[in-house]
Amino acid sequence: MSNPPRTVKFLASILAGDPLNLIEAIRIAERAGADMISLDVSDGHFVPTISFGEDVVRRTVESTSLPVEVHLMVSRPDDWIERMDGCGHAQMLFHLEASSRAMGVVSAIRKKGVKPGVAMNLETPISAVAPMLPYIDSVCLMGIVPGFAGQKLMETTYQRVSELRELIDQTGSAATITVDGGVKDHNAVQLVDAGAHCLVMSSGIYGASDPEASLRSIRAML
Ligand code: DX5
Repeated sequence: MSNPPRTVKFLASILAGDPLNLIEAIRIAERAGADMISLDVSDGHFVPTISFGEDVVRRTVESTSLPVEVHLMVSRPDDWIERMDGCGHAQMLFHLEASSRAMGVVSAIRKKGVKPGVAMNLETPISAVAPMLPYIDSVCLMGIVPGFAGQKLMETTYQRVSELRELIDQTGSAATITVDGGVKDHNAVQLVDAGAHCLVMSSGIYGASDPEASLRSIRAML
């Protein structure tokens, strides 16, 4: 079934899918009409969990026609840019909190032919990303503490999205705003109204009794 054109993009994060059957999680995302697959790469250091490495990124890219985003939740993003060189991902996010040379990381990602983006934890002021806006393709605002799927969206997220949207509109930056974590049917409209362009969902899809219907019904609201 084809999906109508839309402006809000949905990224399916397969983190909450069955780790022993990731291909099915990818197929669910495709059938549900996700715009992109998001792969959370965590190192057990920047966040307590360990999820996917470069082999999963490469095989995911080979296995789907959807573009793939890598969300690095790692302490040393530079190392992972090299490890994932040639994996074929379209976009790579790293955490602003993880690097003291964020502009250098942006440039290293861009040099690999990958779109760079920055992810920001809830405690990080929105103003911290201002100097980088001309150089990045996206800003991902975490709606939760990163590392685990299935948490509840923090209420401050709406205000943070509005603040970032205002900053982006003022500066004329082409960067898009993504919200990751806690996105569900009961808050998606409010996040988009606040200024989000893209929404990442994991447990909202893979924890639902009918994953495909779940994403489709949220999409229909927007
Ligand atoms: C956290 C992950 C999660 C995940 C989304 O480290 O980045 O945000 O993709 O999970 P849900 O949608 O279950 O909050």
